[in-house]
Amino acid sequence: MDVVSMTACWMAAIRARETARPDPLFRDQLAEPLAGPEGFELMARMDVDLPDNPTIPIRTRFFDDALLRALADGQVRQVVLLAAGMDARAFRLDLPVVYEVDRPALLELKDARLAAASAEPRCRRVTVGADLTDQWAELVVQAGFDAAEPSAFLAEGLLGYLEDPDVHRFLDAVDLLGAAGSTLLADVSGRSAIDAPYMAFWSQRLADNGIAGARYGTDDPEGLFAAHGWDATVYEYGDEEANFGRWPYPQVPRDDPTLPHNYLIVARR
Ligand SMILES: C[S@@+](CC[C@H](N)C(=O)[O-])C[C@H]1O[C@@H](n2cnc3c(N)ncnc32)[C@H](O)[C@@H]1O
Repeated sequence: MDVVSMTACWMAAIRARETARPDPLFRDQLAEPLAGPEGFELMARMDVDLPDNPTIPIRTRFFDDALLRALADGQVRQVVLLAAGMDARAFRLDLPVVYEVDRPALLELKDARLAAASAEPRCRRVTVGADLTDQWAELVVQAGFDAAEPSAFLAEGLLGYLEDPDVHRFLDAVDLLGAAGSTLLADVSGRSAIDAPYMAFWSQRLADNGIAGARYGTDDPEGLFAAHGWDATVYEYGDEEANFGRWPYPQVPRDDPTLPHNYLIVARR
């Protein structure tokens, strides 16, 4: 499994830790088996000397809520988790059919861990092993996805690992699959955050753990999504909709480019 896929185990370890809190923002009982030992080891190495950081729990809960809102009126009956990683939403939320797209090796490991945990999805779950910088959209259609029907797409924790041209190719492919009435959920960091001085420390820590990442970022997520046919509403951690009483830092004014920005995107067409 490549090292970027290892980040999926790390994210699951963070969700397992959140689930063990007395006041969790969500309960993901499969996060612990899906993280595996390597997920907890990576989390421990990444956390050394750093304070508790609620970013991932807030992101998970934010997208749980946004996904369920996108499905609420019953018009959207298919969900596509792009770079699904060790996401267990098909097992813990009431969703219609879920297509999980990620690298084949990651999905094989995930299925082995789910089988060992005797996990049963709450909906029809279809896995699609693919490279999201390549011809993945056709594979999703071959797996039964109906591009004529509205859908909810979630790309959580993906864009930052792609090169700039791949981000556009990826969004072009989502464009082909997204009928009118669809929702696209995603997160992206601003260059303001990636290039901030404090990020040099974090980037070094990622590199020390073999996670180099291309680190795509933009401070114009509305423009990025508009260029691919989506009308994006953008939130930042700490906003009322992305806070949940857990964000410990002051809010950063959106129009101040000297401060670091990280964006949660709800886009519709
Ligand atoms: C940080 S994890 C996020 C996983 C999951 N969405 C979550 O939030 O827990 C990044 C995921 O992106 C996937 N990924 C990165 N580049 C990819 C590519 N080119 N094709 C398919 N999957 C990719 C990795 O395999 C990994 O599962």
